[in-house]
Amino acid sequence: MTANHFLASLDFSPEEYSTVFSLASRIIDSPMDYADRCSGRLMATLFYEPSTRTRLSFEAAMLRLGGVVISVASAKSSSVSKGESLGDTIRTVGGYADLIVLRHPNEGAAVLAGEYSPVPVINGGDGAREHPTQTLTDLFTIHRFKGRFDGLTVAFCGDLRYGRTVHSLVKALARYSNVRFILISPPELRLPERIKREVKEINPAVTLKETTQMENGLKSADVLYMTRIQKERFFNEEDYIKLRDTYILTPDKLNTASAEMIVMHPLPRVTEIDYAVDVDSRAVYFEQARFGMFARMALILHLLRRKEDEDA
Ligand code: NCD
Repeated sequence: MTANHFLASLDFSPEEYSTVFSLASRIIDSPMDYADRCSGRLMATLFYEPSTRTRLSFEAAMLRLGGVVISVASAKSSSVSKGESLGDTIRTVGGYADLIVLRHPNEGAAVLAGEYSPVPVINGGDGAREHPTQTLTDLFTIHRFKGRFDGLTVAFCGDLRYGRTVHSLVKALARYSNVRFILISPPELRLPERIKREVKEINPAVTLKETTQMENGLKSADVLYMTRIQKERFFNEEDYIKLRDTYILTPDKLNTASAEMIVMHPLPRVTEIDYAVDVDSRAVYFEQARFGMFARMALILHLLRRKEDEDA
């Protein structure tokens, strides 16, 4: 496997994230300076699970860099429906494109794709496992609003069991100093033990506090990271319905939080954030989605440059 893929949030060191954030901020300040940086380059997006932001922000990112995009938006419309293996698809598409973004329902699909691909593979989400470009987006958003990662208290709320964005972000954040995590979830949807162990291995000094009460997390958090209950990963509808409305952030609840706290969400939102919260200046989730496009522009440039250096 070449080191040129981006398959998991820990594939980048904190320094490498910083490099990408500096580039993303420069792109925000002078987008036209980057308008043809990818001319003659082609990116393929292979999405075997639904997506709005990840796929469209990647495609918008490549087009804004002057590159072009080819796309498969569902397994049904591709040869996967004829029984083609992921390895064969990736080998084929790797002959057409300079970069592949893959979203797949199977955990481990991204790693497998990385083994077959001659070009950089970006994991756009593999089952409940990882979503590193959401982490890139999330860290960039925190960097833009808070200017630091050290010393932050981050409350994660909702489906911490199946939420891949949480799994990727919590590990990446654990590498900074004096970070505290408040994990708010129903008992059924707690952060998996495996990930808690990894976090402790990454940084034994990290504080992890688990609670079922959203209110407990709001008082001291610098960042509240809300998540959707991941309906598609549940084995039955009944369990989903029982847990669906466990946490709903309302303006009243938000009133108990600090004036400096930011509310993030990878989106899509269902019921977990009342629409009335959107007008609160602490609600940054749509800015977060927009930052995701700039972060992905920077990521594309970074990976293509790294590949060129490697090939040189
Ligand atoms: C997330 C995902 O796909 O994991 N969405 C996204 O990429 N922004 C979160 C979710 O679907 O709840």
